[in-house]
Amino acid sequence: MNRQLMCVTCGSTYPLEDLRLRCDCGGLLDVQLDMDSAPSPGTLAATFESRLPSRLLQDLSGVWRYRELVLDLPASDIVTFPEGRTNLYALDPTPLGLSALWAKHEGENPTGSFKDRGMTVAVSWAKHQGARALICASTGNTSASLAAYGARAHLPVFVLIPNGKIAQGKLAQALAYGAHTLQIDGSFDDAMHTVEQITTQHNLTLVNSLNPFRLEGQKTIILDSFFQLGQMLPDWIVVPGGNLGNTSAFGKALTEMKALGLIDRVPRLAVIQAEGASPFARAAQGGFQHFEPMQPETVATAIRIGNPVNYDKAVRAIRFTDGVVTTVTDAEILQAKHDLDRQAIGCEPASAATLAGLRRLTREQVVRRGESALLIITGNLLKDPDTTIALATGRTAELGIEGAASLDACANEPRHVPSDPETIARIIEEELP
Ligand code: F0G
Repeated sequence: MNRQLMCVTCGSTYPLEDLRLRCDCGGLLDVQLDMDSAPSPGTLAATFESRLPSRLLQDLSGVWRYRELVLDLPASDIVTFPEGRTNLYALDPTPLGLSALWAKHEGENPTGSFKDRGMTVAVSWAKHQGARALICASTGNTSASLAAYGARAHLPVFVLIPNGKIAQGKLAQALAYGAHTLQIDGSFDDAMHTVEQITTQHNLTLVNSLNPFRLEGQKTIILDSFFQLGQMLPDWIVVPGGNLGNTSAFGKALTEMKALGLIDRVPRLAVIQAEGASPFARAAQGGFQHFEPMQPETVATAIRIGNPVNYDKAVRAIRFTDGVVTTVTDAEILQAKHDLDRQAIGCEPASAATLAGLRRLTREQVVRRGESALLIITGNLLKDPDTTIALATGRTAELGIEGAASLDACANEPRHVPSDPETIARIIEEELP
């Protein structure tokens, strides 16, 4: 299918190969698909399904399997592990009065977050274009993913991260995979601003979700879910919102799937932000008439973002899907994380915002009884071991979060015991219900 870059603000178009981050007017760029050259929905679906038994890496990937709707590249340029094809779990819908509830676990990607779906496309395209070096700003997961894909592509990687506000698992990955890791005295938003300023002048390739090729990869979370659910989508898709890349990518995926005839009815997006990092939710309250960045603070460090770069695309996604944006407290996030962890879904705090948000939306009857919902679990539990252990062992005081102490009642602390079979057998008998 033919593609070009198109500005979401003024509609100007540029060749796909242009090395530009934004339109001349400053607007965000989309990779625009030429729908006139698209195959029929039946042909597309049959092509995607026919790749399931294949052993080719580009077919095994839950991103490149949908390449007609992602990007055309020679197989030799594709940098893949492969990624995607994450599991979709059925959860008990009854406590929320829903007809069905699913969780798509993007933490099952090769580096433990959904970023891999976008990164395989951005890094493959960069390699195809002969990039010199790759760079990103990150709250952690993007840096871990870029470090991995950059290493696979044999390209140098630079990551800018906020000082001290990055979960240990993510930092460990960036360092271990060999990324040049620069911890700045500032927030994620400062880091994002800096990388955008230096990228073009210094001939670097920026792979934050400002890079439209990232979003083409992240669209496949929706495509994968659609095929896993037998070619249907639920009433609601619930996603955490930080830099709003996923929100934008999901809106684009649904717009294209509707235009292509793959779906008739568009699910509603529910974007969940942490109360302390909720500039998008505040703007939504005012009908998106006005946007005000904020100083972010939340236990969910992945979404500790006060000035999301994809704002304009995310507004478009909410409007197209008749979506909603809401907030949850850190205590609600931890409660939801605890509940997901105990079901062995397990996730990092930002991902648990989805369940916390869905609880709020059902309470407020925005999501109605009998409707169905899909939670997008964005990152793996092991990404943030400090929060996970504090929560699991009843030491939420260490996290300094108001209202979280009630969770300490469920503490699951390790017991120190002698290495003696009799004692251990006795304890097992005591602890069994
Ligand atoms: N969940 C997780 C686990 C994330 O890492 C992120 C973003 C989000 C949700 C929010 O997604 O930005 O598309 O709205 N992490 C970025 C990073 C910012 O640098 O790793 P978004």
